[in-house]
Amino acid sequence: MPSSLAQPLLASLDRLQEGVLLYARDGRLVYANPSARALGRSHPLWSETDPRIEDLLPAHAPEQARAQERWSDYLSFGEGRTLAARLHALHDQDDQLLLLLQDPGLIREDDQELLRRHEELNVRLTAAQEQLLQAEKMASIGQLAAGVAHEINNPIGYVHSNLGSLQEYVGNLFALIDAYDRALRAPEPDELRAEIDATRERLDIDFISRDLPQLLTESRQGIERVTRIVRDLKDFSRSDRDNAWKLADLHAGLDSTLNIVWNELRYKATLEKQYGKLPMIECMQSELNQVFMNLLLNAGQAIEERGVISVRSGLGDGTVWIEIGDTGSGIAPDMLARIFDPFFTTKPVGKGTGLGLSISYGIVAKHHGRIEVDSEPGVGSRFRVVLPVRQPGSHG
Ligand SMILES: Nc1ncnc2c1ncn2[C@@H]1O[C@H](COP(=O)(O)OP(=O)(O)O)[C@@H](O)[C@H]1O
Ligand SMILES: [Mg+2]
Repeated sequence: MPSSLAQPLLASLDRLQEGVLLYARDGRLVYANPSARALGRSHPLWSETDPRIEDLLPAHAPEQARAQERWSDYLSFGEGRTLAARLHALHDQDDQLLLLLQDPGLIREDDQELLRRHEELNVRLTAAQEQLLQAEKMASIGQLAAGVAHEINNPIGYVHSNLGSLQEYVGNLFALIDAYDRALRAPEPDELRAEIDATRERLDIDFISRDLPQLLTESRQGIERVTRIVRDLKDFSRSDRDNAWKLADLHAGLDSTLNIVWNELRYKATLEKQYGKLPMIECMQSELNQVFMNLLLNAGQAIEERGVISVRSGLGDGTVWIEIGDTGSGIAPDMLARIFDPFFTTKPVGKGTGLGLSISYGIVAKHHGRIEVDSEPGVGSRFRVVLPVRQPGSHG
């Protein structure tokens, strides 16, 4: 052990992962910390009895270190390992030579561990985001549940009552058939004609023959409406799990979203629809539907008593835009910068989560698009979603 090294310094050197070796001017080893000794032993030339600098380094290394302050290179050790070596000449300490050995693999392993953890965090974050997305969607669907339930209940109600009438009509028709049957088998059928006329009258057959086809048409329409609502709901609550860009018709998505949301808004707002001609665009449709739903619900919630919600669309330069406008409260200029912040809401608990716009922002950003807002307090707001027709880097 070199007496020139103070005890606390030695203790620290003993704990280093890097190899530290000190050689005398003549190349004799005077100190090696435990890492260096372990490394040295795995070097084919390392001599256990009289380790010298030539065991590890090429002959020119000490001269170069003396002439140029330092020498450095990579050294091969046993088992195919490579170490980064740095040799310093300590001119003010008897020209001793200080050799530092570092395992680049060790550095890389640390980095790799960091990368792995980063990756893991990313995966978890993505999962959490996906969950949040789904949760907000479900919360919005929850808000819509009453409207949707009403919308489903209504046709089911009249289909049910129609079935009651139809049952009665069928009973009457069978009774009439009975009357004809009896007449047919009577010895003098003509004599029963008056009776049949009376029966027809009693059973309201004329009315039934007019009403029955109408009831059937109406019932069929009711059932179709329920089917459509259920389909829209299904479309809507689906998540784009495969996370792949697909060509989709934005208007179809908007319409099915409107079908669901409108149950909630119809009492407050009239709808003005003005669609341009749009190409199919590369997107994740159910995510965009969620954006439209958020914007539509916000528009509805901004309207106090009665107002107009407008849905417009158009084609830009390689982009399409969808605009949802309202004649509601508008947004104060000092709030405008915050509305996309997560959890920013001006609505009472239970009504607002403050997540709608921040999630929408994320979805649109993922689509390489943007949301523009134009709002005037007391007049209304316009949210415009601009989306590229094709996603960069995808070949669809
Ligand atoms: N169309 C709109 N008109 C007026 N204010 C709006 C409109 N859209 C959003 N805002 C404001 O932005 C806030 C955040 O919206 P959002 O992220 O959807 O959360 P939430 O609707 O749950 O409050 C709303 O609380 C409201 O103050
Ligand atoms: Mg909202």
